[in-house]
Amino acid sequence: MSTFQPFEMEYLMSKWEQAVAYNLSESGVHPVALGELVNAPTMIEELLATELNYPEVNGTVELRENIAALYPGATPDNILVTVGCAEANYISLQTVVAPGEEVAVMLPNYMQIWGLAHNFGLRVKSFHLREDRGWSPDLDELNEVVSEKTKLIAVCNPNNPTGYILTEAEMDAIVTAAERVGAWIISDEVYSGAEQLTDAQTPSFWGRYDKVLAHNSLSKAYGLPGLRTGWIVGPPDTIGDVWRRHEYITIAATMLANKLSALALSPEVRPRIIQRTRDYVRRGFSILDDWLKGHGDTFSVVPPQAAAIAFVRYQLDINSTEFIERLRQEKSVLIVPGDHFGMDRYLRISFGPPPDYLQTGLDRIGEFVVDLQRGAA
Ligand SMILES: Cc1ncc(COP(=O)(O)O)c(C=O)c1O
Repeated sequence: MSTFQPFEMEYLMSKWEQAVAYNLSESGVHPVALGELVNAPTMIEELLATELNYPEVNGTVELRENIAALYPGATPDNILVTVGCAEANYISLQTVVAPGEEVAVMLPNYMQIWGLAHNFGLRVKSFHLREDRGWSPDLDELNEVVSEKTKLIAVCNPNNPTGYILTEAEMDAIVTAAERVGAWIISDEVYSGAEQLTDAQTPSFWGRYDKVLAHNSLSKAYGLPGLRTGWIVGPPDTIGDVWRRHEYITIAATMLANKLSALALSPEVRPRIIQRTRDYVRRGFSILDDWLKGHGDTFSVVPPQAAAIAFVRYQLDINSTEFIERLRQEKSVLIVPGDHFGMDRYLRISFGPPPDYLQTGLDRIGEFVVDLQRGAA
């Protein structure tokens, strides 16, 4: 049996995110409180009357209707509700590729599909986002790695960890590459709605090509990770095939998650939540950016276009895993090392928390950096 590839970043976060004083490892914004979502007495009454049965296994009709309304041309039959985008990534991958087949993965990314691909015995090729091009993808490399053997191209857009948003031309190039060989596209779009520089929502791959599975969740752009609600948008027959895996792995998301998620995605509530997220990411990045600039040449960053994380390059003589381990032990701050993306000398730092918390966490990192520099002098 081949060696199991653990999900290094989630393992780090599982161990430490609840234990440190300042958690700057999370990629979403400060979570919405239940009372912010359910804020009318009638809603509370209705929730309390909910029978805690299994909901429809593929998601309640109301929730699937609200999701479908976000994707031009989609109907509830195009939607499968999952337990987070994490489940969506897992079961879609298992559905569209078989062990021994080849996939092309855009790197860096969240690394779940990359790790799963190894664990499922797939052959993994990659094409890269290039920092010297503002993190745009190397399309020559994409076209080189995509061949008749490629069964799937996996992308994360907006990207984790860089915050890069693909241009329309880059999306077209990815679709063209997939079409050329008949490959599926799995597009993880959890940061769509968490844009930094524009109020236009990042478009989906849905509708650009018939072999697309577009994934999303309420965890990032909606600040509701604790609901554990995700979804897949795809052709109805493929949605049926993915659903057969869903029955094995989780059966269904919870009844309460279905109800609360339908509320969060309703036309009355959704714009308010998206605006809240944008307020967090915009305020948060300006705090991080000032802090980075205060450290001279030690740090550099291509400003993220979306998401609540920045992928920061550093000029210090220390490996990124050692950096974050010592930072955690000495200052009780958790961030993610570039090593988890196969890219040492980078750190992934969250700017999604409330301003005071973020500032204090960054100040502690600053103290650690000064200690390091003093030690090296
Ligand atoms: C790009 C991306 N996809 C998927 C996930 C999993 O999210 P969830 O299962 O909470 O929807 C994350 C979590 O950080 C992520 O960053």
